[in-house]
Amino acid sequence: MPAAYPITEHAYDVVVVGAGGAGLRATLGCTVEGLKTACISKVFPTRSHTVAAQGGIAAALGNMSADDWRWHMYDTVKGSDWLGDQDAIEYMCRNAIPAVIELEHFGVPFSRTELGQIYQRPFGGHMMEYGDGQPANRACAAADRTGHAILHTLYQQSLRNNAEFFVEYFALDLIMDDEGACRGLLAWNLMDGTIHRFRAHMVILATGGYGRVYRTCTSAHTCTGDGNAMVLRAGLPLQDMEFIQFHPTGVYGAGCLITEGARGEGGYVTNGEGERFMERYAPHAKDLASRDVVSRAMTIEIREGRGCGPQKDHILLHLEHLDPKILHLRLPGISETAKIFTGVDVTREPIPILPTVHYDMGGVPTNYHGEVLRPTQSDPDGVCAGLMAVGEGACVSVHGANRLGCNSLLDIVVFGRAAALRAAELVRPGSPHPPLANGIEGSLDRFDAVRQSKGPRKTASIRDEMQLVMEQNCAVFRTGEVLRQGVGKIDDAARAYADLGIADRSLIWNSDLVEALELKNLMEQAVVTLHSAEARQESRGAHAREDFPERDDVNWLKHTLGWLDGDCDVTLGYRPVHMNTLSNEVQSIPPKARVY
Ligand code: FUM
Repeated sequence: MPAAYPITEHAYDVVVVGAGGAGLRATLGCTVEGLKTACISKVFPTRSHTVAAQGGIAAALGNMSADDWRWHMYDTVKGSDWLGDQDAIEYMCRNAIPAVIELEHFGVPFSRTELGQIYQRPFGGHMMEYGDGQPANRACAAADRTGHAILHTLYQQSLRNNAEFFVEYFALDLIMDDEGACRGLLAWNLMDGTIHRFRAHMVILATGGYGRVYRTCTSAHTCTGDGNAMVLRAGLPLQDMEFIQFHPTGVYGAGCLITEGARGEGGYVTNGEGERFMERYAPHAKDLASRDVVSRAMTIEIREGRGCGPQKDHILLHLEHLDPKILHLRLPGISETAKIFTGVDVTREPIPILPTVHYDMGGVPTNYHGEVLRPTQSDPDGVCAGLMAVGEGACVSVHGANRLGCNSLLDIVVFGRAAALRAAELVRPGSPHPPLANGIEGSLDRFDAVRQSKGPRKTASIRDEMQLVMEQNCAVFRTGEVLRQGVGKIDDAARAYADLGIADRSLIWNSDLVEALELKNLMEQAVVTLHSAEARQESRGAHAREDFPERDDVNWLKHTLGWLDGDCDVTLGYRPVHMNTLSNEVQSIPPKARVY
């Protein structure tokens, strides 16, 4: 007997899932284009994880140093270790400039220079002169609360344009038709317990990353990659999931973010011997090298016995030499974070830090319009009708194997806008919804099975098991042996979900059930991540294999695709990286050695 739940019906031109920066920019864009748009979110929009982004949004405005969007493009391709699609990177870096000006006109309270222009600071991997010059001041900042400023402004603009919000609705599954097109989605209203079917000509997933597969990460507890998991369950692949970014400066012990903007303002890191060791690893860029480079250097220092503290298990970030006025003006948020989480007064002492999981380069494969791909051997760029993805959950791929700091806030606004423009081309406002051949029984049964589960394992215990595997077997450095063990252990953890039992069977504000559904979503992504990582026998960007220390462009200059069947049956495939540019105003950048 299929599970019986009353269904509340809705019909929209577009449904956006997620109300972070990407979701709000897409919602705003679709609404302005005259499309009847609903934005559904499991948290109140201004609590979305974009609010935690700190250091800035990259754009070659040239307010405080010479700059050029082509240099930005070069840095992004190099930062991606050549796994980024160059057409998409051109699109992002070129559109960065109008995107930031647009944000300014929307009302984002950027910090200002003495001339009243948008303040810009240096950030890791962003250089002048195609990597040969000095660090570029490219990160447009609102002190160290840039994401907060952008998120609130986009929400205000969305309200101003009468966007419709369904707040505290948990998306359960996509609704796919027999032709494989997406026709809407099923969601659970957490507040009153009702189940809702949203019909839509276009679903735009903006559900963020899945950092919470790890125990310690800079991501909010809500970052469970729900959209990515819905895509897997719809029979579509995820791309490049092996590439997980560790941010060099997470607070030791707590994991919260200390912005790279701290090093942009002149901060530096030292080991237990007081040495500024980055000079050995990146003689030119030093502390402002790319994140993967700095995180690996810190890990090596600790592994070789040159860590700080009694356990020699962390590194120190120094800001105490900076003018307290600058710390107060430019870095107030992290000064407070350091005080609260470590007791450190940044004007006097260094902050203990450790590389911490921060960002997923992988996700739902899309083109630079935001359309989700359904790649086949004969058509690696084929699209899935009715479905788009934007933001951290998407893999456009502009970040390739390693994202540069400040390119994430940029990605969300540029591709949130691009998706809205494309949706306006594809969807005729108010057009009728065709009858649906496929039911939603499978999704309701899945939901009900978790709700009624009576097994011996608690959500927290299976989640601990998963997070331990990710921490131990999918860290900064990897080997074939460790990854192979990780695949076995994560498959076991995924199968253990069948033993789940939850205690609360109600439908109203049932956080027990929410956590169990989120765990399932996380687990599916953890499984694809480890299988993808084990298969890639090279080192590229954030995927550092000690047994294959070199990048191998002959065999591995390609995107990984991972499909999931059941709990842990993963099928891997590959598709080519786009090495072509969009225009002849810039030349494609051939792979070369990546040194900073
Ligand atoms: O360090 C930071 O402020 C983080 C920025 C980013 O991930 O883009």
